[in-house]
Amino acid sequence: MAEIKVLFVTSEIAPLIKTGGLADVSGALPVALRSIDVDVRVLVPGYPQVMAQLGPNEVVATFAELPGFPPSRLIFSIMKSGVPLLVLDCPSLYQRAGGPYSDPDGHDWVDNPLRFGLLSKIAAVLSCDESPLSWHPEIVHCNDWQTGLTGAYLSVSPGAVPNVITIHNLAFQGNYRPHKVQLLHLPPDSYDMNGLELYGNMSFLKAGLYYAYHITTVSPNYAREIQGDELGFGLQGLLQGRSSDITGILNGIDTEEWNSESDKHLPAHYSSARISGKAANKLALQTRMGLNQDADVPLLGVVSRLTHQKGLDLLLEIVPRLLELPVQLVILGSGEPAMQKNARYLAHHYPGRVAAMIGFDESLSHQIEAGSDMFIMPSRFEPCGLNQFYSQRYGTPPVVHNTGGLADSVVDCNADTLKDGTASGFVFSGMSTDNLYDTIKRAVDLYHDPRKWKALRKNCMSKDFTWETSAKAYRAVYYKVLGR
Ligand code: ADP
Ligand code: GLC
Repeated sequence: MAEIKVLFVTSEIAPLIKTGGLADVSGALPVALRSIDVDVRVLVPGYPQVMAQLGPNEVVATFAELPGFPPSRLIFSIMKSGVPLLVLDCPSLYQRAGGPYSDPDGHDWVDNPLRFGLLSKIAAVLSCDESPLSWHPEIVHCNDWQTGLTGAYLSVSPGAVPNVITIHNLAFQGNYRPHKVQLLHLPPDSYDMNGLELYGNMSFLKAGLYYAYHITTVSPNYAREIQGDELGFGLQGLLQGRSSDITGILNGIDTEEWNSESDKHLPAHYSSARISGKAANKLALQTRMGLNQDADVPLLGVVSRLTHQKGLDLLLEIVPRLLELPVQLVILGSGEPAMQKNARYLAHHYPGRVAAMIGFDESLSHQIEAGSDMFIMPSRFEPCGLNQFYSQRYGTPPVVHNTGGLADSVVDCNADTLKDGTASGFVFSGMSTDNLYDTIKRAVDLYHDPRKWKALRKNCMSKDFTWETSAKAYRAVYYKVLGR
């Protein structure tokens, strides 16, 4: 089959820069696509974390006079995974302390429209006749609002190639005052209901969805949910209108990075057949986090952004009741100040039984996946979610809310599903503290039945979460868009 050339545009990529699941996807999907003859190159901003980790590299283009934008250049390098990288180096926009979207205090950078306007602009330049590169993509694959203006710029570019956009989270839209349309030198008539206008603002994501040839999102269930009022975040009308152009493709995971038999972050390795190393991980996690060293008490794990989306406020509320079961709880996360404070308070109030680490710690996230007995994800909505895959793979059955990709990837444990070997976690419907409590209690009860727990854990660990099938589904979308 002929190779397709694809420019994959993203605002984060693991292991160089990560705030969430988008980075994991951007790090792994291109590798899987390259293995099935899709020639993908990734365009990413040159944040300090990216620049500091670049291997051998060369400058392949400079953009001195793009109207509205400061001078920038493009640096070519190859990632350790083998994926070719185009780094957008623009020190005045990207070289600063803090994260990709916000300053060290967590406030969004005020010039984010310019920062991600430039990312979109360069993606467009590389995807039309103006490109200074000899490598010409046939498709540009955008991700989330940060890349959403690409299609708007391309709509007036000679020789523009088709663009596809993947929605990783419809809740983040990049909506700004309308005067940005001029400042970013967007086509003047693009500020329209049939364009990038959304309720009196200009919207990066609306632009992305309006101008894309095809829209994908990260699970089939979420693809349906975003066309409804509850989870459409104001864009459900547009999405309903484009229903036949939307495909839900479930994320995969990087099975080398997340392999309990070789994970470099783990103090002991294990597999489904040799599970004893899991107990050593539990003990090490309890020790590291200052929890009582107790092999028998069920240990609940959380690794998450601490935001309303993730529903952890419900979990924090029922901690006193849960501790009576009894259980232990370990939380790694950062986000909303009130939730961080509450997690810290509980750890302080229940020493030895609740532990909280506020911050971002890749190593600890692996140790929690491996060392916990069950993993808690009560998300109000979840486009896909990755931790429920990691926890299943690590033999740590997840407790999840029946939403988005969680519903597509976890099979509720009951007598039937245990018997037919499909059970892989615990699923609850209806966001309430009682429903969450009852479901965790159900998991804890099963935990105390070693034979059944072993069967459940084995099911989890034998599931296939590789990227292969999903990569093929993306390739099918590319072919469809190209009319092949
Ligand atoms: P989202 O992208 O909405 O945050 P996902 O479940 O798709 O949710 O992906 C989250 C990713 O970020 C996972 O790889 C998870 O392990 C990681 N992660 C989230 N919070 C932390 C943290 N505090 N420390 C380390 N890793 C984290
Ligand atoms: C977003 C979503 C998450 C998804 C991730 C990767 O951050 O919140 O559910 O797994 O993107 O697609």
